Amino acid sequence: MTNHQRLLRYLKHQLVARNSKGFGIHSPYIFHLVTEIIHDFIPFYCYGSIEKERQNLLSNNTLIEVNDFGSGSHINKQTQKKVCDIAKHSLKPKKQAQLLFRLVNHFQSKNILEIGSSLGITTSYLASVSSKSKLITLEGCPETSKIAQHTFSNLQLKNITLNTGNFNKTLIPALHKFKKVDFVFFDGNHKKNATLEYFNTCLPFIHNNTVFIFDDIHLSEEMEEAWNEIKIYENVKVTLDLFHLGIVFFKKEFTKQHYNIKF
Ligand SMILES: C[S@@+](CC[C@H](N)C(=O)[O-])C[C@H]1O[C@@H](n2cnc3c(N)ncnc32)[C@H](O)[C@@H]1O
Repeated sequence: MTNHQRLLRYLKHQLVARNSKGFGIHSPYIFHLVTEIIHDFIPFYCYGSIEKERQNLLSNNTLIEVNDFGSGSHINKQTQKKVCDIAKHSLKPKKQAQLLFRLVNHFQSKNILEIGSSLGITTSYLASVSSKSKLITLEGCPETSKIAQHTFSNLQLKNITLNTGNFNKTLIPALHKFKKVDFVFFDGNHKKNATLEYFNTCLPFIHNNTVFIFDDIHLSEEMEEAWNEIKIYENVKVTLDLFHLGIVFFKKEFTKQHYNIKF
Protein backbone atom coordinates (compact mmCIF):
# COMPACT_ATOMS: atom_id res chain seq x y z
CA MET A 1 0.00 0.00 0.00
CA THR A 2 1.43 3.41 -0.95
CA ASN A 3 1.58 6.33 1.49
CA HIS A 4 -1.08 8.03 -0.63
CA GLN A 5 -3.46 5.05 -0.28
CA ARG A 6 -2.81 4.92 3.44
CA LEU A 7 -3.59 8.61 3.77
CA LEU A 8 -6.89 8.11 1.90
CA ARG A 9 -7.79 5.23 4.22
CA TYR A 10 -6.94 7.38 7.23
CA LEU A 11 -9.18 10.19 5.97
CA LYS A 12 -11.99 7.72 5.28
CA HIS A 13 -11.58 6.32 8.80
CA GLN A 14 -11.70 9.82 10.31
CA LEU A 15 -14.88 10.62 8.38
CA VAL A 16 -16.85 7.70 9.80
CA ALA A 17 -15.15 7.43 13.21
CA ARG A 18 -16.86 8.31 16.51
CA ASN A 19 -15.28 11.22 18.33
CA SER A 20 -14.26 11.75 21.96
CA LYS A 21 -17.87 12.55 22.95
CA GLY A 22 -18.85 8.96 22.17
CA PHE A 23 -21.99 9.86 20.17
CA GLY A 24 -23.66 6.77 18.75
CA ILE A 25 -21.95 4.31 21.09
CA HIS A 26 -24.75 2.35 22.73
CA SER A 27 -22.72 0.12 25.05
CA PRO A 28 -22.16 2.00 28.36
CA TYR A 29 -18.93 0.02 28.86
CA ILE A 30 -17.48 1.13 25.52
CA PHE A 31 -18.87 4.66 25.92
CA HIS A 32 -17.01 5.02 29.24
CA LEU A 33 -13.85 3.52 27.74
CA VAL A 34 -13.87 5.92 24.79
CA THR A 35 -14.80 9.10 26.65
CA GLU A 36 -12.90 8.58 29.92
CA ILE A 37 -9.90 6.39 29.08
CA ILE A 38 -9.05 6.55 25.39
CA HIS A 39 -9.46 10.33 25.33
CA ASP A 40 -7.91 11.03 28.71
CA PHE A 41 -4.71 12.98 28.14
CA ILE A 42 -3.80 13.77 31.76
CA PRO A 43 -0.16 12.70 32.29
CA PHE A 44 0.71 9.87 34.70
CA TYR A 45 3.77 9.97 36.95
CA CYS A 46 5.88 7.53 34.91
CA TYR A 47 5.48 9.16 31.50
CA GLY A 48 8.37 11.59 32.02
CA SER A 49 11.05 9.02 32.86
CA ILE A 50 10.04 6.68 30.01
CA GLU A 51 10.07 9.54 27.51
CA LYS A 52 13.52 10.51 28.79
CA GLU A 53 14.70 6.99 27.92
CA ARG A 54 13.16 7.38 24.46
CA GLN A 55 15.09 10.65 24.01
CA ASN A 56 18.34 8.90 25.00
CA LEU A 57 17.67 6.21 22.39
CA LEU A 58 16.83 8.84 19.79
CA SER A 59 20.24 10.42 20.30
CA ASN A 60 22.17 7.13 20.40
CA ASN A 61 24.23 6.78 17.19
CA THR A 62 25.65 3.33 18.02
CA LEU A 63 25.45 0.86 15.15
CA ILE A 64 24.07 -2.55 16.04
CA GLU A 65 23.55 -5.78 14.09
CA VAL A 66 19.84 -6.30 13.58
CA ASN A 67 18.07 -9.47 12.76
CA ASP A 68 14.82 -8.07 11.42
CA PHE A 69 12.08 -10.66 10.96
CA GLY A 70 9.16 -8.31 10.44
CA SER A 71 7.69 -6.47 7.47
CA GLY A 72 6.81 -3.42 9.57
CA SER A 73 10.19 -1.79 9.19
CA HIS A 74 10.19 -1.30 5.41
CA ILE A 75 12.27 1.86 5.86
CA ASN A 76 15.57 0.17 6.49
CA LYS A 77 16.49 -3.34 5.40
CA GLN A 78 20.24 -3.45 6.09
CA THR A 79 21.58 -5.70 8.81
CA GLN A 80 23.28 -2.86 10.67
CA LYS A 81 21.20 -0.05 12.04
CA LYS A 82 21.75 2.92 14.30
CA VAL A 83 19.88 2.72 17.59
CA CYS A 84 18.48 6.19 16.91
CA ASP A 85 16.97 5.00 13.61
CA ILE A 86 15.28 2.04 15.31
CA ALA A 87 13.98 4.40 17.98
CA LYS A 88 12.65 6.71 15.29
CA HIS A 89 10.92 4.14 13.08
CA SER A 90 10.02 1.06 15.15
CA LEU A 91 8.60 2.28 18.46
CA LYS A 92 5.03 3.25 19.17
CA PRO A 93 4.83 7.04 19.44
CA LYS A 94 4.16 8.39 22.90
CA LYS A 95 0.47 9.13 22.29
CA GLN A 96 -0.24 5.47 21.48
CA ALA A 97 2.15 3.99 24.06
CA GLN A 98 0.49 6.13 26.75
CA LEU A 99 -2.91 4.90 25.60
CA LEU A 100 -1.69 1.33 26.13
CA PHE A 101 -0.60 2.33 29.66
CA ARG A 102 -4.09 3.73 30.37
CA LEU A 103 -5.77 0.61 29.00
CA VAL A 104 -3.69 -1.71 31.21
CA ASN A 105 -4.43 0.59 34.14
CA HIS A 106 -8.16 0.66 33.39
CA PHE A 107 -8.47 -3.10 32.92
CA GLN A 108 -6.08 -3.79 35.84
CA SER A 109 -4.35 -6.36 33.62
CA LYS A 110 -1.82 -8.47 35.50
CA ASN A 111 -0.66 -11.07 32.96
CA ILE A 112 0.61 -9.01 30.06
CA LEU A 113 2.25 -10.27 26.87
CA GLU A 114 3.95 -8.10 24.27
CA ILE A 115 4.87 -9.70 20.94
CA GLY A 116 7.67 -7.46 19.66
CA SER A 117 9.73 -5.55 22.25
CA SER A 118 12.21 -3.65 20.08
CA LEU A 119 14.06 -1.22 22.41
CA GLY A 120 11.56 -1.70 25.23
CA ILE A 121 9.81 1.65 25.32
CA THR A 122 6.23 0.41 24.98
CA THR A 123 7.11 -2.53 27.23
CA SER A 124 8.13 -0.02 29.89
CA TYR A 125 4.77 1.73 29.66
CA LEU A 126 2.91 -1.57 29.96
CA ALA A 127 5.02 -2.70 32.94
CA SER A 128 4.89 0.63 34.79
CA VAL A 129 1.21 0.41 35.66
CA SER A 130 1.79 -2.00 38.53
CA SER A 131 4.84 -3.73 39.97
CA LYS A 132 2.46 -6.61 40.77
CA SER A 133 1.80 -7.29 37.09
CA LYS A 134 3.88 -9.85 35.19
CA LEU A 135 4.98 -8.85 31.74
CA ILE A 136 6.58 -11.15 29.19
CA THR A 137 7.92 -9.47 26.07
CA LEU A 138 9.28 -11.29 23.02
CA GLU A 139 12.04 -10.07 20.71
CA GLY A 140 13.96 -11.90 18.00
CA CYS A 141 17.00 -9.68 17.66
CA PRO A 142 19.67 -10.28 20.37
CA GLU A 143 21.31 -6.84 20.13
CA THR A 144 17.97 -5.05 20.23
CA SER A 145 17.04 -7.17 23.26
CA LYS A 146 20.22 -6.08 25.05
CA ILE A 147 19.29 -2.43 24.65
CA ALA A 148 15.73 -3.14 25.82
CA GLN A 149 17.18 -4.76 28.96
CA HIS A 150 19.15 -1.55 29.56
CA THR A 151 15.96 0.46 29.22
CA PHE A 152 14.26 -1.73 31.85
CA SER A 153 17.15 -1.50 34.29
CA ASN A 154 17.48 2.28 33.83
CA LEU A 155 13.78 2.53 34.72
CA GLN A 156 14.18 -0.01 37.55
CA LEU A 157 11.41 -2.19 36.15
CA LYS A 158 11.66 -5.62 37.73
CA ASN A 159 8.42 -7.22 36.53
CA ILE A 160 9.56 -7.79 32.93
CA THR A 161 10.84 -11.05 31.42
CA LEU A 162 12.33 -10.57 27.98
CA ASN A 163 12.56 -13.76 25.91
CA THR A 164 14.85 -13.52 22.90
CA GLY A 165 14.18 -15.70 19.85
CA ASN A 166 11.84 -16.14 16.94
CA PHE A 167 8.19 -15.81 17.99
CA ASN A 168 7.53 -19.25 16.55
CA LYS A 169 9.77 -20.59 19.35
CA THR A 170 9.02 -18.15 22.19
CA LEU A 171 5.28 -17.47 21.95
CA ILE A 172 3.87 -20.80 23.11
CA PRO A 173 6.21 -21.14 26.15
CA ALA A 174 5.29 -17.58 27.21
CA LEU A 175 1.58 -18.38 27.00
CA HIS A 176 2.07 -21.56 29.03
CA LYS A 177 3.86 -19.54 31.73
CA PHE A 178 0.74 -17.40 32.11
CA LYS A 179 -1.88 -20.11 31.60
CA LYS A 180 -4.38 -17.24 31.04
CA VAL A 181 -3.49 -13.84 29.57
CA ASP A 182 -5.20 -10.55 30.48
CA PHE A 183 -3.67 -8.30 27.83
CA VAL A 184 -1.74 -9.06 24.63
CA PHE A 185 -0.08 -6.44 22.45
CA PHE A 186 0.67 -7.81 18.96
CA ASP A 187 3.47 -5.63 17.59
CA GLY A 188 5.89 -7.71 15.57
CA ASN A 189 5.89 -9.31 12.14
CA HIS A 190 3.16 -7.26 10.48
CA LYS A 191 2.12 -9.86 7.95
CA LYS A 192 -1.32 -11.36 7.49
CA ASN A 193 -0.48 -15.02 8.05
CA ALA A 194 1.85 -14.33 10.97
CA THR A 195 -0.71 -12.04 12.64
CA LEU A 196 -3.48 -14.62 12.28
CA GLU A 197 -1.15 -17.37 13.46
CA TYR A 198 -0.19 -15.47 16.64
CA PHE A 199 -3.85 -14.58 17.21
CA ASN A 200 -4.91 -18.24 16.92
CA THR A 201 -2.03 -19.35 19.14
CA CYS A 202 -3.12 -16.91 21.87
CA LEU A 203 -6.86 -17.73 21.70
CA PRO A 204 -6.81 -20.84 23.94
CA PHE A 205 -5.26 -18.65 26.68
CA ILE A 206 -7.96 -15.98 26.88
CA HIS A 207 -10.67 -15.47 29.50
CA ASN A 208 -13.83 -13.39 29.35
CA ASN A 209 -12.02 -10.11 30.16
CA THR A 210 -8.93 -10.57 28.03
CA VAL A 211 -8.07 -7.69 25.72
CA PHE A 212 -5.98 -8.00 22.55
CA ILE A 213 -4.41 -4.96 20.89
CA PHE A 214 -3.14 -5.16 17.32
CA ASP A 215 -0.63 -2.65 16.04
CA ASP A 216 -0.88 -1.00 12.63
CA ILE A 217 -4.02 -2.71 11.35
CA HIS A 218 -4.01 -0.45 8.28
CA LEU A 219 -0.27 -0.72 7.53
CA SER A 220 -0.88 -2.76 4.37
CA GLU A 221 -3.58 -4.60 2.44
CA GLU A 222 -2.59 -7.81 4.19
CA MET A 223 -2.78 -6.29 7.67
CA GLU A 224 -6.26 -4.98 6.81
CA GLU A 225 -7.21 -8.46 5.64
CA ALA A 226 -5.92 -9.94 8.91
CA TRP A 227 -7.91 -7.37 10.91
CA ASN A 228 -11.09 -8.06 8.91
CA GLU A 229 -10.69 -11.80 9.50
CA ILE A 230 -10.15 -11.29 13.23
CA LYS A 231 -13.36 -9.24 13.47
CA ILE A 232 -15.50 -12.11 12.17
CA TYR A 233 -14.26 -14.76 14.63
CA GLU A 234 -17.17 -16.04 16.66
CA ASN A 235 -15.57 -15.39 20.06
CA VAL A 236 -14.54 -11.85 19.06
CA LYS A 237 -17.36 -9.60 20.33
CA VAL A 238 -16.53 -5.90 20.24
CA THR A 239 -13.69 -4.39 18.22
CA LEU A 240 -12.47 -0.79 18.18
CA ASP A 241 -10.55 0.48 15.16
CA LEU A 242 -8.41 3.45 16.20
CA PHE A 243 -6.63 3.29 12.82
CA HIS A 244 -3.12 2.78 14.20
CA LEU A 245 -4.34 0.26 16.77
CA GLY A 246 -7.14 -2.29 16.84
CA ILE A 247 -8.68 -3.37 20.16
CA VAL A 248 -10.49 -6.70 20.58
CA PHE A 249 -12.87 -7.74 23.39
CA PHE A 250 -14.14 -11.26 23.99
CA LYS A 251 -16.80 -10.59 26.66
CA LYS A 252 -19.58 -13.12 26.10
CA GLU A 253 -22.20 -10.65 27.35
CA PHE A 254 -21.38 -8.19 24.54
CA THR A 255 -23.34 -8.09 21.30
CA LYS A 256 -21.06 -8.28 18.30
CA GLN A 257 -20.23 -4.74 17.22
CA HIS A 258 -17.44 -2.94 15.41
CA TYR A 259 -16.66 0.72 16.10
CA ASN A 260 -14.32 3.15 14.33
CA ILE A 261 -12.97 5.57 16.93
CA LYS A 262 -11.06 8.82 16.37
CA PHE A 263 -7.81 8.92 18.27
C1 LIG B 1 7.57 -2.71 15.75
S1 LIG B 1 8.83 -3.42 16.70
C2 LIG B 1 8.16 -3.44 18.33
C3 LIG B 1 8.04 -2.08 18.92
C4 LIG B 1 7.68 -2.04 20.41
N1 LIG B 1 6.50 -2.80 20.70
C5 LIG B 1 7.46 -0.61 20.85
O1 LIG B 1 6.42 -0.03 20.53
O2 LIG B 1 8.34 -0.06 21.54
C6 LIG B 1 8.72 -5.11 16.24
C7 LIG B 1 9.85 -5.98 16.76
O3 LIG B 1 9.48 -7.34 16.52
C8 LIG B 1 10.64 -8.08 16.19
N2 LIG B 1 10.19 -9.22 15.36
C9 LIG B 1 9.49 -9.16 14.21
N3 LIG B 1 9.22 -10.41 13.77
C10 LIG B 1 9.75 -11.28 14.67
C11 LIG B 1 9.77 -12.70 14.78
N4 LIG B 1 9.19 -13.48 13.87
N5 LIG B 1 10.37 -13.24 15.86
C12 LIG B 1 10.95 -12.44 16.80
N6 LIG B 1 10.98 -11.09 16.75
C13 LIG B 1 10.39 -10.51 15.69
C14 LIG B 1 11.54 -7.12 15.44
O4 LIG B 1 12.90 -7.49 15.61
C15 LIG B 1 11.18 -5.78 16.08
O5 LIG B 1 12.14 -5.41 17.05
